[in-house]
Amino acid sequence: MSEFKDKVVVITGAGGGLGKSHALEFALRGAKVVVNDLGGSGDGVGASDMADEVVNEIKEKGGIAIASKASVSDPAGAKSIIDDAVAEFGTVDILVNNAGILRDKTFKKMPLEDWDIVMDVHLNGTAYVTHAAWPIMYEKNYGRIVLTSSTSGIYGNFGQSNYGAAKMGMLGLMNVLAMEGRSKNINVNVLSPAAATRLINTIPGREVDLDNPDPMSHPKLVTPAVLLMCSEDGPTGKVIQAGNGRFSTAAVFNNVDLEFGGDVTYEELLAKKDQLLDMSEATEGWTWRTEMMKKAAEKKD
Ligand SMILES: NC(=O)c1ccc[n+]([C@@H]2O[C@H](COP(=O)([O-])OP(=O)(O)OC[C@H]3O[C@@H](n4cnc5c(N)ncnc54)[C@H](O)[C@@H]3O)[C@@H](O)[C@H]2O)c1
Repeated sequence: MSEFKDKVVVITGAGGGLGKSHALEFALRGAKVVVNDLGGSGDGVGASDMADEVVNEIKEKGGIAIASKASVSDPAGAKSIIDDAVAEFGTVDILVNNAGILRDKTFKKMPLEDWDIVMDVHLNGTAYVTHAAWPIMYEKNYGRIVLTSSTSGIYGNFGQSNYGAAKMGMLGLMNVLAMEGRSKNINVNVLSPAAATRLINTIPGREVDLDNPDPMSHPKLVTPAVLLMCSEDGPTGKVIQAGNGRFSTAAVFNNVDLEFGGDVTYEELLAKKDQLLDMSEATEGWTWRTEMMKKAAEKKD
């Protein structure tokens, strides 16, 4: 029997692309799925019934699902997604925060409206839905949460300051939630996917033929990483990159401390600039914080 059978899974932005692929796969394995999607355009305008179409597809295949058409970027709408899961299926076990839009422009040309809407959908929307699910998972001593990031945040991408900042925010949120959820069996991980989807089609010069997609860029090649992060023995606090049939883990590294004792001048630091910037002996994490995390593992909220 599938380990996901009867698990209640909420997936935001699951009306198409990656979210739809995750929803179909969880449903195929017997999960009860809440397919959320506002159904707007790739840049976040309008609304439609995309979520219904995915629910119908799941039901036609014998699966269990309901639709939610609320927006993750509205706190009340975000809460309603989790409320719908509880009303229909009694709880929420797994939350995949996936909804997203793009408003690409260089920072110089970007109106603040484009900054705000991208932050609202990605970072705030993720926080709102997760905030609604958190107490339920906390009380039941079980939860699996995925936050969807991007290489645009982890490494940067020209013209995506709003998106990159929001996506790197996922790592900050995960770092803390993984600590706070550890004693309650709530695993929180970040996915950094790559696939040919409608969202990619909004990037000038990156257009893909969605009717004849390259099989190697299909969203279904990303979904196994989501299931792994949501599995019983899955990791917590990890960043997993997935796409084109390739999987890897990303992490933040720290080099060896330059120690000056109690006093240091700008000139003394400048003299050691090359050593300061040398990452050749860097190791994962931050030594002080690694110690703190060990203690945090025993902390309870
Ligand atoms: N496709 C890639 O290569 C790639 C790369 C990095 C990150 N991502 C991330 O993966 C996620 C899924 O994107 P995708 O590529 O499948 O694109 P997509 O456009 O097919 O899917 C995003 C979905 O989110 C929905 N959505 C947008 N705003 C919403 C809101 N306020 N409330 C609820 N739903 C909303 C959209 O209607 C859409 O169906 C996004 O978070 C995206 O940033 C994708």
